[in-house]
Amino acid sequence: MSAPKADADGFRRLMARWPTGVSVVTARSGEQDGGMTVNALLSISLDPPTLLVSLARDADTVPLLDASGHFAVSFLAARQRELSEGFARRVGAAEKFRGVPIRRGVTGAALLEGALGWIECRTLQTIPLADHRLYVGEVLAAREGTDAAPLLFYHRSYARADGGDRLILPPAPADRPSP
Ligand SMILES: Cc1cc2nc3c(=O)[nH]c(=O)nc-3n(C[C@H](O)[C@H](O)[C@H](O)COP(=O)(O)O)c2cc1C
Repeated sequence: MSAPKADADGFRRLMARWPTGVSVVTARSGEQDGGMTVNALLSISLDPPTLLVSLARDADTVPLLDASGHFAVSFLAARQRELSEGFARRVGAAEKFRGVPIRRGVTGAALLEGALGWIECRTLQTIPLADHRLYVGEVLAAREGTDAAPLLFYHRSYARADGGDRLILPPAPADRPSP
């Protein structure tokens, strides 16, 4: 006897109990930039550094990833919530990038200024699955940005780790007071 399938609503409710960070995935092909808000992101392996993102098949940004063979990820800080909202709207790239400070990475993709960090990938493999496409990327560059508090997504809304903009990091091992 086969096990019963979970219904989509129950699954969505349950996944709302799984907190994540929030990123913007960008790609550039020719003169065309694209970007979308993404929290389905996973570090697959450290050696070699490999990253996976899961994008809705019908997202406008998807053809740009396919055309360029590269993508970049900007990890958003709590104070960048507006960027998360802006890049989650289907308004076209010109509108999304208007007034947004960016820098160009090694792949040419836009890196959002003020982010916690940036990763740039060469696409190793794309896997069509259900209504999504998985992009597995070889990490070409990984750079740390600001040490601000991360933007979090939890219970289908934004959350903050510490109620403020500052991130309280644990002391580095050498600085820890001895017991
Ligand atoms: C916090 C948050 C996380 C999201 N994560 C994803 C994701 O992991 N994958 C995805 O396909 N869409 C995700 N979305 C939705 C896309 O950002 C949204 O559909 C966007 O409009 C797609 O842009 P485009 O069609 O212009 O490319 C997320 C939205 C929000 C607000």
